[in-house]
Amino acid sequence: MSSSFPEIAITTERLVLRAFEDDDVPALVEMMNDELVTAWTSVPHPYTEEHARDWVHRGSVLERTEGRGIVFAVTEFLTQRLVGTVHLCNTDWRCRTAEAAYVVAPWARGEGYGSEAVHAAAQWLFDDQGFERLEIRTAAGNTASQQLAQKVGCTSEGVLRNAWIVRQPEPDGSWSEVRTDLIVWSLLPEDIESDPVR
Ligand SMILES: CC(C)(COP(=O)(O)OP(=O)(O)OC[C@H]1O[C@@H](n2cnc3c(N)ncnc32)[C@H](O)[C@@H]1OP(=O)(O)O)[C@@H](O)C(=O)NCCC(=O)NCCS
Repeated sequence: MSSSFPEIAITTERLVLRAFEDDDVPALVEMMNDELVTAWTSVPHPYTEEHARDWVHRGSVLERTEGRGIVFAVTEFLTQRLVGTVHLCNTDWRCRTAEAAYVVAPWARGEGYGSEAVHAAAQWLFDDQGFERLEIRTAAGNTASQQLAQKVGCTSEGVLRNAWIVRQPEPDGSWSEVRTDLIVWSLLPEDIESDPVR
């Protein structure tokens, strides 16, 4: 049995999920410096061009080659613009389980891109890679991410109390860290609709 994901691209109705490329660096920097990304995720802040280059050329590649997961740049099929990223991570090859983390660029939100991309990645993980469970962990206050999880068919399983740190903007422009609960969601092969979600 293989213990790393193959280098692949996934095409949906409106999107292409593929490995990051050097040309994605400027759009990745812009996307990761968005306030909601700073608030809800653990990416470095400020997110510099150096962070992006390191992720594109080293970090995201190692995720795959070292068997931890796979990182997709999500691009619009028609314009080839970077609309987001889906990261399948924390892979357990014996249990065939993984976790999904995702970001959609501010300009592309609310169009169903996030759910379309996560649905496509999950379908590939189950159908092509024979996985049996995909987990999503959302901060308790992250309504958009919870809506996305529900839309792709996830079931909410419970709460990990005090398990995460979110960042809050302060009036002086700095960010403070606040502990929060995490909601655990899971998606199994039988939960997923074969029709594309959008
Ligand atoms: C969470 C995130 C990826 C959602 O991406 P998106 O492309 O806007 O999501 P979708 O358009 O597919 O929306 C999915 C569902 O969530 C709902 N939704 C989206 N944004 C919402 C918001 N701000 N508040 C409430 N619901 C929201 C949509 O209405 C949709 O449900 P519906 O079709 O039943 O109406 C995006 O907001 C984001 O990048 N946030 C910052 C990073 C982050 O929080 N990542 C997740 C960490 S767990």
